[in-house]
Amino acid sequence: MSKNLEKKLKDRTAHIGVIGLGYVGLPLAVEFGEAGFHVTGLDIDKEKVKLINAGKSYIDDIPDSRVAPLVKSGLLKASDSPEHIRHLDTVSICVPTPLSKTKDPDISYILAAVEWIKKYLHKDLLVILESTTYPGTTDEMIKPMLEESGLKIGRDFYLAFSPERVDPGNQKFMTKNTPRVVGGTTPACTKIAAMFYEQAINHVQPVSSTQAAEMVKLLENTFRSVNIGLVNEVALMCDRLGLNTWEIIDAAASKPFGFMPFYPGPGLGGHCIPIDPHYLSWKLKSLNYYARFIELAGDINSHMPEYVVDRTMRLLNDMGLPIRNSKIHVLGVAYKRDIQDVRESPALDVIKLLEEKGAKITYTDPFVPHIKWNDAVHKSVNLTPALLKKANLVVILTDHTTFNYDMIVQNAKAVFDTRNATKKVRTGRQKITLL
Ligand SMILES: NC(=O)c1ccc[n+]([C@@H]2O[C@H](COP(=O)([O-])OP(=O)(O)OC[C@H]3O[C@@H](n4cnc5c(N)ncnc54)[C@H](O)[C@@H]3O)[C@@H](O)[C@H]2O)c1
Repeated sequence: MSKNLEKKLKDRTAHIGVIGLGYVGLPLAVEFGEAGFHVTGLDIDKEKVKLINAGKSYIDDIPDSRVAPLVKSGLLKASDSPEHIRHLDTVSICVPTPLSKTKDPDISYILAAVEWIKKYLHKDLLVILESTTYPGTTDEMIKPMLEESGLKIGRDFYLAFSPERVDPGNQKFMTKNTPRVVGGTTPACTKIAAMFYEQAINHVQPVSSTQAAEMVKLLENTFRSVNIGLVNEVALMCDRLGLNTWEIIDAAASKPFGFMPFYPGPGLGGHCIPIDPHYLSWKLKSLNYYARFIELAGDINSHMPEYVVDRTMRLLNDMGLPIRNSKIHVLGVAYKRDIQDVRESPALDVIKLLEEKGAKITYTDPFVPHIKWNDAVHKSVNLTPALLKKANLVVILTDHTTFNYDMIVQNAKAVFDTRNATKKVRTGRQKITLL
């Protein structure tokens, strides 16, 4: 292991690089800046680069008050030029890993970032991939690209995979206090990568290989997808049985062992849970194995928006109303509570489907001031008693904690609550229908 890099990490003189300053990369850059390192963030998005260099954040969990002092003291800067890699000691790749139109992994962003690194690869550089991907990406794709330089991995430079596990909006667990899993291409790579994270993260958990580290992340997200798929199916079953799903889950959760509550909802959203398991099933297909749990959970979860639309139509029907021209006010379009992220948000699928059936949709989301659906930009409207009274039905799709649910139920004619957000409302419960 490089004594030089080890020393620089320990005495905080190592220059840290982060490629991709999004939900994952910016918190990482800030964490290392706050640990006393000089950090350079590289992003192709010039607007993000400009904002960071002006001391401003665009990520919910990172306030300006954490970015500005780092920029002012010179510990954090951003750039869209890869040339900085020449002077970096470490570089963490935090670029998107979406699915293509045919639901295959799209690792083109990773490959573009590696092309940048390859051009400026130098002795003692530590390269870490953080983007979620299928097992084998680091060793099968990145390693050969970097070795074309003639430098030897584990001796001249270092390569590792470490999955980011950030949970946007989580006030308790953030980048610093969420343990880090690290797997290197060689034992020396694992050791130096673990040492790197130890400088800014509370706990590091090394594993035997990059593939193991890649698989850990996919297990975690598949676990969530499958369990959410299970409770969503339980919700479909409870609907037919005439039972309250939420009551069943909460009562089951009173068991102090062997049960972990997951809750149903209008579908999966965000950059991780709807996408990552497909990286794993895609890889397994190439090994002639069909990942049944993943596909089944994906099928159930992706049909939840249609189910919510079906329930909405049934509710309106019970009120003697057709869906066409019914006024529906939607509460929440972000993919989960208290954040502004709308990527893959199931709320958008529900809204599009309702509008296609002729419903008149308005929405309120304090985190999302405007949003596009069905080719038009829509603005969030102020939530007032008058607005609620005008709607035939209020549909809660995201359970933001800033909504006043008592006021909502008091003024709405009827509420379809897909998140059990109205759990604590006591008055007017007869107006509420739960998913
Ligand atoms: N968002 C989450 O909650 C979360 C949690 C854990 C893991 N992840 C994983 O982390 C990775 C990044 O996700 P994210 O949510 O931060 O994405 P993001 O879209 O918020 O940020 C990615 C950033 O990378 C930049 N970028 C794209 N290509 C680039 C390139 N070639 N060079 C430089 N910059 C480039 C983009 O401009 C963007 O700013 C993904 O693999 C994701 O699955 C995300």
